[in-house]
Amino acid sequence: MRLFIAIEIPTEHKRELGRLQAEITGARRVPLEQIHLTLAFLGEVDEETAGKLGNALAQLQAEAFELAFAGTGCFPDRRRPRVVWVGLKAEPALQKLAAAVSATLLACGITLEDRHFSPHITLARLKSPVSTDLRAFFVRHSSVKLKPFAVTSFTLFQSTLLRQGAEHLPLRSFSLSTAGGDVRR
Ligand code: 2AM
Repeated sequence: MRLFIAIEIPTEHKRELGRLQAEITGARRVPLEQIHLTLAFLGEVDEETAGKLGNALAQLQAEAFELAFAGTGCFPDRRRPRVVWVGLKAEPALQKLAAAVSATLLACGITLEDRHFSPHITLARLKSPVSTDLRAFFVRHSSVKLKPFAVTSFTLFQSTLLRQGAEHLPLRSFSLSTAGGDVRR
């Protein structure tokens, strides 16, 4: 099974992100219901390891936190935009969560690509670069005026590649502990 771990985005925020997406022309927009913040992309994992991983993630200790939006940007760079995203403000608790997730994966025998964790929410993917249109978009949205949201859980997803695109299925969610040590399940 093809797996990834992500933070789900509140519906209200997804709707607002949809308004941003509407300004990106000539791109494949991520369907609103699929918008997420990837913590780790695992790729193909066998069922036994996936089961072990679910139990290990349930043991992970990390705090709930607030996440605020930053500006828009793209990968790999503005001259060749392939992935258009909304960034998140640097939040130590988010970095800690991503580090705890990758340590848990490693303990389950899953190694991640050795890449710096660069938190982003993908809005759209481009096949052929249309940088002139996007330049105006990036200027207009150098900051994104969306309310911060509370991250109280993260989710293990299965991604199935279909002819019409990927299908994301949430397999299991894991609660983060809130200030009083009160873990919500
Ligand atoms: P991103 O859009 O946040 O970059 C599920 O496929 C998610 O895993 C994608 O939305 C993508 O998140 C992330 N991902 C990271 N590396 C990937 C890879 N090599 N192949 C597919 N998805 C990847």
